Formats: sequence, structure tokens, C-alpha cells
Amino acid sequence: MKPKLKILALFDAIAPTTLDQDLSAELKTDDWKTEANILAALGELGHTFEHLAIFDDLDLLRQKIQSYEPELIFNLADQFKNNRAFDQNIVSYLELHGVPFTGCGSTGLTLCKQKGISKKILGYHRIRVPEFTVIPRGKRQARPKRLKFPILVKPLKEEASYGISQASFVETDEQFKERVQFLHEKTGNDVIAEEYIEGRELYVSLLGNHRLQVFPIRELVFQEVPPDEPKIATYKAKWDEEYRKRWGLQNRFAEGLDPAVVRQIEQTCKRIYRLLTIDGYARIDLRLTANNEIYFIEANPNPILAADEDFAQSAAKASLLYPQLIDRIVRLGLNTVRD
Ligand SMILES: Nc1ncnc2c1ncn2[C@@H]1O[C@H](COP(=O)(O)OP(=O)(O)O)[C@@H](O)[C@H]1O
Ligand SMILES: [Mg+2]
Repeated sequence: MKPKLKILALFDAIAPTTLDQDLSAELKTDDWKTEANILAALGELGHTFEHLAIFDDLDLLRQKIQSYEPELIFNLADQFKNNRAFDQNIVSYLELHGVPFTGCGSTGLTLCKQKGISKKILGYHRIRVPEFTVIPRGKRQARPKRLKFPILVKPLKEEASYGISQASFVETDEQFKERVQFLHEKTGNDVIAEEYIEGRELYVSLLGNHRLQVFPIRELVFQEVPPDEPKIATYKAKWDEEYRKRWGLQNRFAEGLDPAVVRQIEQTCKRIYRLLTIDGYARIDLRLTANNEIYFIEANPNPILAADEDFAQSAAKASLLYPQLIDRIVRLGLNTVRD
């Protein structure tokens, strides 16, 4: 039997918290499903654990680390002061403390969050990425001629499809300008415009640090979307159940892929994982064209760990059931060398 550990589960909160904050009401809600699933798994695994949610006060975290002396932090804090760009800063703080934690370190989080930099690194290493351009906030930059329509205009550093709707898909210079301006104004942040890659939308889950395990591939299918319409995992497509029903959107295991293509996808995703210096676990989003060309869309270190989300579903398909999956993530966190 592996030794049981003393673990601090770290969450983010959307409003200021205290050290002994009672989160039992929150943990019953859908928004806190992942947190609740993780606590239940840690309990089943026999670990000793406490939890802390932070909003904008790192001193709370310092106090908790000092008083509780956890052997590991299970890191589920992916925003700070409601800002999702700060996940890497929280992790940097943990790195300074020297306390082991689960998931990705600050370098991997930073590289993956910035959709331009991750594509430059991968493009340099000859992994297929969509042609793109970054348009800094405040700039009224026209479309570079090398960038061909249709184009998808996205926030440079967002997640969960924030700022992505059907209007993100643009086919003229007029639409391009409008959408860039809209995003600059709405988010106050930089924008990335990418050539739209038509193809199947695949999600590949990986676990590990040096030796990597790739789980069975998931796919988002757009059953009721007409063939000539763009197929995009917009904000609504991810989070609005009504909308998903109406358009027949379903996350399921990818069927009918040529085994040789599956192997190629697995190899490519392992390379991506290493090139972007990801630790622990990640989900990589790809597009597979009709010619079986594999395009990188995005890497998600620390993907959502709720038991019913793609990552845990993929692991379960590979016979790694939920509490065991969580234990593997715990052990990997314990053994990660942070620099
Ligand atoms: N270049 C592209 N070509 C085709 N579809 C894309 C492209 N970029 C993004 N998408 C679609 O938009 C979705 C969200 O984009 P993504 O970059 O993953 O943003 P987020 O980080 O918000 O998830 C993708 O899952 C995919 O459906
Ligand atoms: Mg994505």
C-alpha cells in the first residue's frame, strides 16, 4: 500500500474568503462539481485532506500552508481575482514555497495560455498549426494578406470558449475588422485570428511527466449542424444544454479513425505535451481534416477534472477509474521536479 498523504485542496473563489470558510453549500452546486468530485475521491483513497478557496489574498494561502503543513497541494485554483490569466501566477507562488502540487507548472501554463506563442513553438517543430496573426489591443490592424478566409477571431489568452460565438467565424475584411474591434473593446485584451480548419474536432487526454499515457480519443460531433455550416465549439456549444440539444452536439468517443492515424495523433500529442513543457495531465484539442492532416488547435494543461468531463471519461475508458485517476495525478504531483 502506498503511504497516505496530507493534502490541501486549493480552489478559487469568486469573492473574498476566510481561512475557515464553510464551503458546504457551494460544494453542492453544479459550479463546484469538480471540487466536490476531487474531495470525494481523496476521501475514498484514504488521504487526509483539508480545503481552502482563495479569491485575491495570497496571505491566506501562506497561513494555511504554514499551519496545516500539507505534503501536497491539489491545485484546482485556475483564476485569481476572477482573472483566468493569473492561474500561472498562483502556481509560481507554490513553486516559490517549494510545496509539491498537482498538475502543470508555471512555464507550461504560460506557454499554453498564450495561443500565439504555443503555435510558434509547435510550428517551429513542424507540427501543423493554423496560419495566424496576433492583433494587440489598441491596434487597428488589417488582415495580413497571407491569412486566408474563412478566419476565426478569438481572444488571445482565454479558455472555455469565452468570446467565441458564431460571429467569430468571418469571411470578409469587413467582418474581420468588426469582430477584432468588438473583442478588443469587450475584453480589453489582445486577439488572435486563425485560418479556420475544417475537420473533425478531437480531444486527446494525456497523463504523465516523462512517460506519457494517451487515453482514447474523444470527439465533439455536430450532428444537426448542416454540412456547409462552420462547426465551432462556441461558448454556447460548450455550456448551454438547450443549444447543444438543438444542434445535436455531443461529446463521445471518436469512432472509425484509421488505427494508423490514431497512432500518429498519439505521437503528435506526446510531442506537443513535451514541447509545451506540460506536467501532470492535459487535454489537447485538434482538428483532423478530411485528408487526415492533424492540426493543433489548443493545449489545455489542468483540464477540467469533473468525473463526467472528457478527461476523466477518456481515462475511465482506459480502465483508469476516477479515484485511481486522481491518485495517479496526486503521485505525479509529488514526483514532479519544479525549477
Ligand atoms: N483555427 C481553428 N479552426 C477551426 N476551429 C477552431 C479554430 N480555433 C478554434 N476553433 C474552434 O473554437 C473552439 C475554441 O477554440 P480554442 O482556441 O480551443 O479556445 P478556448 O481556449 O476558449 O477553448 C475549438 O474547440 C474549435 O471548435
Ligand atoms: Mg479549447
